[in-house]
Amino acid sequence: MIRKPRILAFAGSTRKDSYNKKLVRIAAHAAQECGAEVTVIDLKDFPMPLFDEDLERTQGMPESAVRLKKLMVESDGFLIASPEYNSSITAVLKNSIDWVSRPVPNEPPLIAFKGKTAVLMSASPGALGGLRTLVHVRSILGNIGMIVLPDQVAVPKAFEAYNDDGKLRDPKQHGAIEGLGRTLTTFLQKHIA
Ligand SMILES: Cc1cc2nc3c(=O)[nH]c(=O)nc-3n(C[C@H](O)[C@H](O)[C@H](O)COP(=O)(O)O)c2cc1C
Repeated sequence: MIRKPRILAFAGSTRKDSYNKKLVRIAAHAAQECGAEVTVIDLKDFPMPLFDEDLERTQGMPESAVRLKKLMVESDGFLIASPEYNSSITAVLKNSIDWVSRPVPNEPPLIAFKGKTAVLMSASPGALGGLRTLVHVRSILGNIGMIVLPDQVAVPKAFEAYNDDGKLRDPKQHGAIEGLGRTLTTFLQKHIA
């Protein structure tokens, strides 16, 4: 029997009421309904110092980075909702990627990323919905060996986009985010061993 795809879902924000956390939860729920085993995490639960090679040399990888890396290594794919800060990736998301990307002796390089698949989305109060950050996140993940599927959605005017129950007010937009969760799941169902 083919096993269920394992998906890790997270946002590049630690903010309590993050629009991106809400977004990734919608995609994660759809992925689960579609047959994936989904783990939703909050990067707030994985606090890490700013990456510093001196710190790495003297203290090694922080415990949170070890935990995050383990979850990523155990996953086939990622659902990532990335906020846009100054038209690019947030520090918390980039810092997490930097720590997890570090080589460990006797381990294949970039083991948490290489050959894994990601689907991206973003939400922002602005008119572009964070579209510019997706270009950068796509590039970073592609350069460290990930397959980033072409489908992506950016939700603009996020301050008025959600109902109190966390669903997007616009059913078409809600369906598009659910579609991202399904797209990743069906891709992985076809491609995992
Ligand atoms: C330092 C900083 C820079 C920002 N730059 C942008 C930007 O370039 N484009 C944009 O659409 N929103 C920008 N924003 C607004 C964020 O999109 C907004 O804070 C959003 O709520 C962050 O995502 P979250 O709700 O998931 O935390 C910026 C916010 C901060 C704090």
